[in-house]
Amino acid sequence: MLKTIQAGSLRSEHVNQMITLGGWVDRRRDHGNLIFIDLRDSSGITQIVFDQNLDSSMHQSASLLRNEWVIQVTGKVRERPDGTINTELETGQVEVIVSSLTILNESKTPPFYINKEEDSDELLRMKYRYLDLRKPKMQNIVNIRHKAVKFIRDFLTDQGFLEIETPILIKSTPEGARDYLVPSRLYPGKFYSLPQSPQQLKQLLMSAGFEKYFQIARCFRDEDPRADRQPEFTQLDLEMSFVESDDILSLIEKLYYDLVKAITPGKNIKFPFPRIPYNEVIEKYGTDKPDLRFDIEMSTVVDWAKKTDINILKTIISNKGTVKSLSAPGCGNYTRGQISELEELVKTSGGKGLMWIAISEGAKSIEDLKDDDIKSPVSKVLKLNEIQEIASILSAAPGDLILIVAGPGKIVNQSLSLIRDHLGTSLGLKDPNSFEFAFITDFPLFEWKEEEKRWDAAHHPFTMPLKEHLGIISTDPSKVIAHCYDLVCNGLECGSGSIRIHSRKLQEEVFGVLGYSKEEVASRFDQLLTAFEYGTPPHGGIATGIERLVMLLAGTDNIRDVVAFPKTQSFIDPLFDAPDYVSNEQLNELHIKVNPTET
Ligand code: AMO
Repeated sequence: MLKTIQAGSLRSEHVNQMITLGGWVDRRRDHGNLIFIDLRDSSGITQIVFDQNLDSSMHQSASLLRNEWVIQVTGKVRERPDGTINTELETGQVEVIVSSLTILNESKTPPFYINKEEDSDELLRMKYRYLDLRKPKMQNIVNIRHKAVKFIRDFLTDQGFLEIETPILIKSTPEGARDYLVPSRLYPGKFYSLPQSPQQLKQLLMSAGFEKYFQIARCFRDEDPRADRQPEFTQLDLEMSFVESDDILSLIEKLYYDLVKAITPGKNIKFPFPRIPYNEVIEKYGTDKPDLRFDIEMSTVVDWAKKTDINILKTIISNKGTVKSLSAPGCGNYTRGQISELEELVKTSGGKGLMWIAISEGAKSIEDLKDDDIKSPVSKVLKLNEIQEIASILSAAPGDLILIVAGPGKIVNQSLSLIRDHLGTSLGLKDPNSFEFAFITDFPLFEWKEEEKRWDAAHHPFTMPLKEHLGIISTDPSKVIAHCYDLVCNGLECGSGSIRIHSRKLQEEVFGVLGYSKEEVASRFDQLLTAFEYGTPPHGGIATGIERLVMLLAGTDNIRDVVAFPKTQSFIDPLFDAPDYVSNEQLNELHIKVNPTET
């Protein structure tokens, strides 16, 4: 090795030892006779000192050093003189008096600061990702990710799981996104698909008799960009035979609890994780991935609305719409501008408007409300007792702002869940030190796609329906509930899984409801259906997103922070400049002709 010790590990116990360090110049301070350099390596920073009185030519060389130059120094460790101890640095008790310096490489001035946290342009950071990754914050995140994955591997290995790799060049396995395709050179016109997940492969491993499988699996999905998505990402993918939902949930609960405790011991996390049925979670939070760090809940107020004289609400209800409401605590004094921000959230969800009732902080109580205590665009139409009634449904108090949205269920839920989330942030209710995990259970098996007028799998087509619903799969798909569960935390979907179908007949029936033709089933799923005919055991599993876990652990809401070499939000790689054109020779070899109007 070109060094004998890591910079970040120097302590008082090393005083008087001769050591050799290798690293980057993080910062240089020239005090005339003395030049101080913060030397950084992957373990941390230590101060090294060049003293003109000890070696003037080396002092001269040190004066030439610039940030990010790579150097090797040998010297003696000494206690820092009184008054110069740096308590903010782990190595702040000591420094190294350099007796020999070798410049291993020079560096141009980096395009952004590495030794300072600043808001540099993300595109620039990604173009020079190797420099961005040198920052201690980024090194720390990469470290956390390593620890999390190692923890998972150790934990599952201890539980008797086998890690098995599955292929990347496969045939399409649906997870609701588009496939990335890889043209075959040897078979003109044929393509491999990159796996959206190893779903069918892990089920085939159950058929193969591996009762406990896991994999830290790369997945590829050509889907619409979102803040918490990358086109390629990593899952903890897991499958077990002879299990029920509860076995999977208990295992994941223990794994995530232990992992969070081990890696971020200071964070609050409850055990066990609550299990909330899908219908309940939608009713209370309007979304299946609620942030449970704060307890604002919404309620359906259709019966209340019907009794009022607000005609617009009645019309919406008679058109099969719904009316829901929540109370924003302490927001009764919101300005027009603040209410407009909330209205904007309704509009971005496709909703028409937001009805609001502000209750003055000065009101004695909800029972003693007076007309003067209320401000609302509908105050003329609403009677005081109607306001008292909705306030009591929502447990609203003086000083609160009641918000009401009406329209199609999906739009109402999305509007109010965005408002709830906005309130959580603006009222400071999202404790950064808390992880509120929960399992959402009892999802519907199918969801209706109105634009395409067809049923789609709510999770994926391999999910087992509840036993008591087996008889209504084809006749009443909307009522079928699945053995399906999501793991959520602080508003993020962290994982998703289910008990699987393991019978050919049932699987074919589900494909039938989804409208897959016989040919499509034969071409895409024959391997799985055939395996079901050779003694595939009952099985189930889950996959959790590694990036989303690390986002939580590292306290970032930017998924790109937790990937060493991420794609931008528009799925570009600015470092390698990918995707890119390829040569005509390569295209010819692959039997591909690119339509020039599209290039
Ligand atoms: P699902 O599609 O819900 O289920 O994915 C499981 C988990 O993977 C993470 N995830 C993503 N993370 C980053 N970028 C993306 N584009 C992305 N897409 C998904 C999420 C999600 O909860 N085969 C099934 C699992 C199973 O049934 O066992 C599957 O892949 O955290």
